[in-house]
Amino acid sequence: MAKTEKESGAAGAAAATLEPTDKRPGDTAAAALEIKDTRTGTEYSVPIMTDGVVGDTTIRAMDLRQIKTKPDQFGMMTYDPAFMNTASCKSAITFIDGGKGILRYRGYPIEQLAENATFLEVAWLLRHGELPDKKQYGQWEHDIKYHTYVHENIKSFLQGFRYDAHPMSMLCSTVAALSSFYPDAKNIADPEQRNISIIRLLAKVPTLAAFAYRHVKGMPFIYPDNNLGYVENFLSMVARMSEPKYEANPVFVKTLEVLFILHADHEQNCSTNAVRAVGSSHVDPFSAVAAGIAALFGPLHGGANEQVLRMIKEIGHKKNVPSFIESVKNGSGRLMGFGHRVYKSYDPRAKIVKKLAYEVFEQVGMDTDLEIALELERIALSDDYFVSRKLYPNVDFYTGLIYRSMAFPTDFFTVLFAVARTAGWLAQWEEMLNDKEQKIARPRQIYTGYGERPYKSQIK
Ligand code: CMC
Repeated sequence: MAKTEKESGAAGAAAATLEPTDKRPGDTAAAALEIKDTRTGTEYSVPIMTDGVVGDTTIRAMDLRQIKTKPDQFGMMTYDPAFMNTASCKSAITFIDGGKGILRYRGYPIEQLAENATFLEVAWLLRHGELPDKKQYGQWEHDIKYHTYVHENIKSFLQGFRYDAHPMSMLCSTVAALSSFYPDAKNIADPEQRNISIIRLLAKVPTLAAFAYRHVKGMPFIYPDNNLGYVENFLSMVARMSEPKYEANPVFVKTLEVLFILHADHEQNCSTNAVRAVGSSHVDPFSAVAAGIAALFGPLHGGANEQVLRMIKEIGHKKNVPSFIESVKNGSGRLMGFGHRVYKSYDPRAKIVKKLAYEVFEQVGMDTDLEIALELERIALSDDYFVSRKLYPNVDFYTGLIYRSMAFPTDFFTVLFAVARTAGWLAQWEEMLNDKEQKIARPRQIYTGYGERPYKSQIK
């Protein structure tokens, strides 16, 4: 990094011009941020990068390292707990405008994809950047169907879980276990290995999810039926009993297909960040995706849809909604399914899900808890506490009600999310590996503990 000294007028202090670190094609330093360190009077000029297509402006955190008061100092870092204002990567996969409520995959609006595309088409799009043509789609679908079976030993592995094990724990462990069945998957620099691992994961995660469901129910595992579509096959593995050929309710198939599309990717969320961070150590993708599943399990992330139903159950009746809202405002818990780190207006997925909920309820009858949900939404959207904090329903607010009306147990909701998000995790993982700027993820810290002190045993 070059540093050019120049005289600063008034203060007469030295100024430094910082060149961007590891400048790459596409970086455009259109302007600079002038920084004056009041400790030394030194002025620095830090290039502003404007290479994001929507005019996001960033500076490279490494450019700040030059700012120091003594030559032997480490230099200035940025402090950003929870990555509130830090871009960890450049990505061409998913675009979100949280203020306007926009979500696009590879430029295509989520509303159009939800209306017209299939989940596997979207999985291809996320990975390859373009929609597949007929031939590509046919091959993709064939390859994924061909790899839906899992090794028989996985069944005994699952049998080791207690009858009441959470299906997310089972999914996380079995996906991690797949890594031991495919040792070649660790050759992540080999495009062929990457390709087959991606296909295997997309194909086998639904099988493992369905097996986890059947284990909890104490029912025999149903093997994949490769004559069925992706979603139908999943429903068959979950719900088939003694019928020779499983026929899924077409409304349920369509609903799940749309929900899978809506959940397929969401740029740098907690679980995707986990997949990228773990994958940056160059571990195999089965292990990296298992890390994503673990992150998704948390109630502030994918676990929220499960919590929404628990909350509605606790409220019990529409008349109890105002007092529940008051208790949230007084700090006892959160209104689950509300709020989002990025969306500060309506979550565009929530709009689609709400409409979908009515379509499913038309089939299976109105869910009584929908009344409570609608009342929660009505009151919260007109209450200053929620309005001033820009807290709107997120994707999880209505998905739980849909899943329950399809007879999925509450603790299975996040598993459904994980099946869909696998497509996004894999696209992001591969993009990360192909990004020459990425290295092993390793944040800095501000150490706040003791200085050096001598060891003196407290137990002798
Ligand atoms: N209910 C009540 N108050 C809330 C809520 C909520 N759901 N969400 C945020 N707040 C308040 C929070 O208390 C804080 O208030 P104050 O400024 O007075 O301290 C303010 O709003 C900002 O909250 P925050 O925690 O700084 O916001 P965040 O961006 O860090 O958190 C969130 C985002 C999604 C974790 C949070 O809104 C939340 O916990 N929501 C409920 C859980 C949920 O529905 N999660 C699903 C997210 S969407 C799907 C996914 O990502 O998996």
